[in-house]
Amino acid sequence: MALIRIGNKSRELLENREPMLEGKVALITGGASGIGACTAKIFAQHGAKVIIADVQYDLGQLVSESLGPSNCTYVHCDVTNEDHIKNAVDKTVSTYGKLDIMFNNAGISDTPKPRIIDNEKADFERDLDINMTGVFLGMKHAARVMVPAISGCILSTASVASNLGGASSHAYCCSKHAVVGLTRNLAVELGQFGIRVNCMSPYTLATPLATKFVGLNDEDLENEMTVLGNLKGVTLRADDVTNAALYLASDEAKYVSGHNLFIDGGFGIVNSAFKIFQYPDA
Ligand SMILES: NC(=O)c1ccc[n+]([C@@H]2O[C@H](COP(=O)([O-])OP(=O)(O)OC[C@H]3O[C@@H](n4cnc5c(N)ncnc54)[C@H](O)[C@@H]3O)[C@@H](O)[C@H]2O)c1
Repeated sequence: MALIRIGNKSRELLENREPMLEGKVALITGGASGIGACTAKIFAQHGAKVIIADVQYDLGQLVSESLGPSNCTYVHCDVTNEDHIKNAVDKTVSTYGKLDIMFNNAGISDTPKPRIIDNEKADFERDLDINMTGVFLGMKHAARVMVPAISGCILSTASVASNLGGASSHAYCCSKHAVVGLTRNLAVELGQFGIRVNCMSPYTLATPLATKFVGLNDEDLENEMTVLGNLKGVTLRADDVTNAALYLASDEAKYVSGHNLFIDGGFGIVNSAFKIFQYPDA
């Protein structure tokens, strides 16, 4: 699939590893493209049964079929619609018997408008509806089935914009800060049931969401982000985010909860105005 870019090293490591999610069942919103599609593929390779919940019917079906009907199912789901989310969770349980991993990953970026006075209320609300309320609904309905089971893991995709000003639009920045707030609050509520709640914050990587926002093709976006990034010699790809999701979803992270895991090569801790580590001959 063209939208899933996996490095050779990652592929090699994944193929040689013990399955990390054997017997688990995962529901992935936004699983038809980008990070979600890559995660569906790698979770299935690690033994999980996967449900893809997305608004993109054709792509969702394509990803699902590529993973095989016994491993993956597509369900049409708009994360802003509570009935859709409820149905996706119920379908997961009726198809595979339980829900172990809820991955709230669906998201959009809006049109970049640098001045707040140019930002329309409706656009702001649309971003929050999908990126924040969609995550809230996913968390709520996952908790509905995980609490009685006294087990589960909830993951969400935030962004470097969850902690940084000036890296995205006002709405996107606000929505991703909210994902961290929801993650922390829910980790506290659900800890008593042994349910872990975490989120991940990637730097920019080439997916339809990012290329549309930046207005560049995959290759140019990757080149530009590599120049701007802190960690040189590597390019962030969807499988890097998936590998973090795999760890957080697996028993290897059994004591990790309430965490916002940055996959940003240190980008979020740099203040580029200070150049004290700039080597004279670099
Ligand atoms: N690509 C990046 O640079 C980047 C960086 C940080 C965080 N993220 C976050 O990663 C997540 C995944 O995005 P991606 O980069 O893989 O982009 P993507 O566009 O490839 O995937 C997003 C998916 O979400 C789905 N979606 C959008 N609205 C939906 C809705 N209302 N209901 C259900 N599904 C919906 C889309 O159909 C699509 O399949 C998003 O939450 C995004 O904010 C992306």
